[in-house]
Amino acid sequence: MKISDVMKIAYKKHILIPAFNVAYLPMLKPISDALCECNCTGIIEVSRPDIINFGAKSIEAVALEFEKNADLRYCFLHLDHVPVIDENYQAIDWQKLIKTGIELGFDSVMIDGSRLAFEQNIKITRTTVKMAHQKGVCVEAELGSVLGHEKEKLPPYEEIFEKKIGFTEPEKAKIFIEETTVDWLSVSAGSIHGAISGAAKDRKKPSARIDIDHLAKINEKAKIPLVLHGGSGISPQCIKEAVKNGITKINIGTEIRQAYQKALKSGKNFAQENVKKAVKKILETYQICNSAELLK
Ligand code: G3H
Ligand code: ZN
Repeated sequence: MKISDVMKIAYKKHILIPAFNVAYLPMLKPISDALCECNCTGIIEVSRPDIINFGAKSIEAVALEFEKNADLRYCFLHLDHVPVIDENYQAIDWQKLIKTGIELGFDSVMIDGSRLAFEQNIKITRTTVKMAHQKGVCVEAELGSVLGHEKEKLPPYEEIFEKKIGFTEPEKAKIFIEETTVDWLSVSAGSIHGAISGAAKDRKKPSARIDIDHLAKINEKAKIPLVLHGGSGISPQCIKEAVKNGITKINIGTEIRQAYQKALKSGKNFAQENVKKAVKKILETYQICNSAELLK
């Protein structure tokens, strides 16, 4: 089955597809092994921050590792966060990165225009959709901003939540989807990214929650699979409600990266085992073991 069909079925049936960021190449195999052992369909993904800030090395290296170690019965490959303007506010050659992902056979790509003005985000997403759909590759875009990757200190979490800082506007989501024909939309409704730079990247991520009423309003307008970025550390109850309201893919990075890094100090093999344990725990917590059966 293709990833486009999996996501459509999952959205319709309210099944959560977990997507795990590979921050270091040896993390890929234990993610695949955990998905396989739990009979769970999932996505393995790499983002530009995983390559620049950690040890994922390159898009090519992850594609090769996927070819060698991923179980294709359970895993799809996604190119996460290709920013137009990155977290350091630098302009990025996003077309080159998207082209690389498409040529390497990634199942889907994410164009991240979240730091652009609305019209510019539409324009760039539309171009990406044109490039990707020609080759049968799905596209995820972001509208609104899931904060946390930027170097500067975030406002207190309660302020982000109460003032809806970065939140996706439901009416704009409708227009964005119509104008771009994007396949899935990353939305902002309370989640934040775990830090990726400085000392904060090693600390426990502040816990976040989802404004379910706001998400429901987005879902009502969007009517396509929605993506939850900054998935590490959100409570299972919150995720359950989010899935009922359109969230189909959840991105999890910090939780498994820190599990890997922490265990590295005790030896390489143990680090991979720790990633597998962490992934299995997430699948169990979100009650998505055996999801592969429901997606058939
Ligand atoms: O870009 C990263 C993903 O959205 C995961 O976020 O590291 O907060 O789990 P997280
Ligand atoms: Zn993200």
